Amino acid sequence: MDHSPATPEVGSDSTKSAEKIVESFSDGLLLKALLESHPDHLYFKDRQCRLIRSSLSHAKSSGFASPEEMIGKTDFDFHDAEDARGFYENEQHIMATGEPMLAVEERIIRKHTGDEYWVFTSKIPLHAEDGTIVGIIGIGRDITERKQAESALRKAELQLVESEKMALLGQLIAGVAHEVNTPLGAIGAAVGNISGTLDQILQILPAFFRTLPAEFEGTFLELVRRSVNPASPLSAREERQHRNALRRRFQEEGIENADHAAEIFVMMGISEDIDGLLPMLRHPQGAQYLDMAYKLSGLGRSASIIATAGDRAGKVVFALKSYAHFDRVGEWAYAQVSEGIDTVLTLYHNQLKRGVIVERNYSPTPEIRCRPDELNQVWTNLIHNAIHAVNLQGTLSIKVEPIDGGEKIRATFADSGHGIPHEIAERIFDPFFTTKPAGEGSGLGLHIVRQIVEKHNGTISVRSEPGKGATFEVILPVAGGAQN
Ligand SMILES: Nc1ncnc2c1ncn2[C@@H]1O[C@H](COP(=O)(O)OP(=O)(O)OP(=O)(O)O)[C@@H](O)[C@H]1O
Ligand SMILES: [Mg+2]
Repeated sequence: MDHSPATPEVGSDSTKSAEKIVESFSDGLLLKALLESHPDHLYFKDRQCRLIRSSLSHAKSSGFASPEEMIGKTDFDFHDAEDARGFYENEQHIMATGEPMLAVEERIIRKHTGDEYWVFTSKIPLHAEDGTIVGIIGIGRDITERKQAESALRKAELQLVESEKMALLGQLIAGVAHEVNTPLGAIGAAVGNISGTLDQILQILPAFFRTLPAEFEGTFLELVRRSVNPASPLSAREERQHRNALRRRFQEEGIENADHAAEIFVMMGISEDIDGLLPMLRHPQGAQYLDMAYKLSGLGRSASIIATAGDRAGKVVFALKSYAHFDRVGEWAYAQVSEGIDTVLTLYHNQLKRGVIVERNYSPTPEIRCRPDELNQVWTNLIHNAIHAVNLQGTLSIKVEPIDGGEKIRATFADSGHGIPHEIAERIFDPFFTTKPAGEGSGLGLHIVRQIVEKHNGTISVRSEPGKGATFEVILPVAGGAQN
């Protein structure tokens, strides 16, 4: 398809007067010098956008040996047709309206080499003596190097942000590995217990039931059943109290080896409502019946350890999955702010449990439009900073609530750590600002946090009383960020 403008009338009056005007400029030494040696591209065009004069720099950049070779040519002769069409329309607009086009960065493809370059261009109308517009004057500066440097810088910045994310993820994963390993260890031990118990008792079980008096069958089964789901684990002190009370009671009841019986009851998690069990314990074989009940019920206790541990490992894996939002990275979606925060808390459980008391105060809030994986990064950075500030010992209060009539959500993270000295408060969001020792923090955390929050049309602020802690407040609109 031919995009070139309609062939202008050769030697038309307007072209002549444009030529005359330009001729009068170029008689001057100044313009000659500029056209020959100025590095910026200078050119004059007539009303049909054909070149009347051009600087040497412009000719060279456009693939011509000399400016003379360009005379009479249009952008269609040395630019990509699409670019040329755009320039032509701009220039016609300038001539029609008299409005200059100033300081525009243009990306251009060279027709003769196919490579890309950038020009910083201004174009103004060329006036005849009587004030009519007879063409345009253009000045372009090649800014390709600056553009390339800018894009390299942007790339480097992105890489840094990426490596910061990876570093954070790396240390999170170390904690997560521990979080999964602990329940796996418990499962392994419980499985060992089950097979050990089965080995010991399977053979003797039929004979045991034959000797168990029929009147104790019910008591025996009740004992096993009650131990299967032990109540929540007791503290060492509670255990001791229960053991002493049981021992006294058994002694009063004349049960032999009351010490041992009390010990087994505590291990089975039974301390109350024991009246019905006493007759079986008083039987001469009572201690044997109790031992067997303990062994059999061990199978149930092991099974419930496995169930709890499996649950715990499953939760951690689920948190890890939703942390990265594996299938939806970088997409806008609707998500619950408090769920994101809980995900991060689950992954940090290993560090938090060493002495950080987490207080959660979540009010019901609507789901917000967000990039869930990026918000998770915000919570990760804030929680990570808080854990560091309290040095693993202290409190972290997290509050999530609707504000502004439910149009926004406020998430507040208040820690009891060392706080932020006034003189650095202004700088903590700056990239690379860190008070951590070299190699420990990049100082990019809060910078990234702010970028993400702003992308969501939100705000982040901090207040701190040095020595008493810091409070970060993130406010996010339910409607989320710009549609992109
Ligand atoms: N909860 C907080 N309490 C006290 N100071 C804080 C807290 N959060 C951030 N700061 C201060 O702000 C600085 C910048 O934090 P930022 O998260 O940007 O980087 P960093 O934590 O030092 O490094 P990185 O995030 O890469 O580990 C920190 O070095 C610290 O001095
Ligand atoms: Mg940080």
